[in-house]
Amino acid sequence: TGTVALIPAAGMGTRLGEDQPKAFVDLGGTTILERSVDSALRSSVFSRVIVVVPEDMVEHARELVPEAEVVAGGAERSDSVRAGLAVIGAAERVLIHDAARALTPPDLFVRVDDELRNGATAVVPVLPVVDTLKRVDTVDHEVIETVDRAKLRAVQTPQGFTHTALQLAHAESGDATDDAGLVEALGSRVQTVHGDQYAFKITTAFDLRIARLLLADEAT
Ligand code: CTP
Ligand code: MG
Repeated sequence: TGTVALIPAAGMGTRLGEDQPKAFVDLGGTTILERSVDSALRSSVFSRVIVVVPEDMVEHARELVPEAEVVAGGAERSDSVRAGLAVIGAAERVLIHDAARALTPPDLFVRVDDELRNGATAVVPVLPVVDTLKRVDTVDHEVIETVDRAKLRAVQTPQGFTHTALQLAHAESGDATDDAGLVEALGSRVQTVHGDQYAFKITTAFDLRIARLLLADEAT
């Protein structure tokens, strides 16, 4: 019952290029996984937190985040989400949150959950796009056109869903990096709320450096 946090943390972090799976990389005393779980718990939104990690990291993860339930993930993100969904049982709402967004502030979880409690079926945090966007020809690298960014938004997590809508969306197999996209494909409405710059995803070595600097700065 209530709202369940589902935190996919089973990726390898290939683009990050560290010598361990991304969720287990240290941010200066705590791992990415611990940071994400801690932030989710501090929001006071969740009745349960389920984290999905690589199969050989399950025992280690149970030691790192004893407050969470830990299950083994799969090859693609959507496999990991489905592995988490499989153990949810009864729940009203589910927030899916990339472990890699380790600096996400607790109030973003609250904002997404509130929107669901107010009747939304699916909710995504979004930010305006700050860079100019151009469509290019990927063969000759020439600009085709400049895209109007006024109506474009960059999507973050946590993404929130009614449990029913999420189960329907993931009933079919296939890879999807964006859970809300699956709900959209079924014809359901997806609501947006203001995202947060701190909810950026640690993807590259540059992002990791930023995350560590921000945390070190906070600590002083
Ligand atoms: N994820 C997962 N299972 C997978 C792939 C990804 O649980 N098979 C999770 C990651 O752990 C991460 C989130 O989905 O928290 C977003 O994925 P991404 O940032 O792409 O992480 P990785 O897949 O680990 O990174 P990369 O694509 O660079 O390997
Ligand atoms: Mg990935």
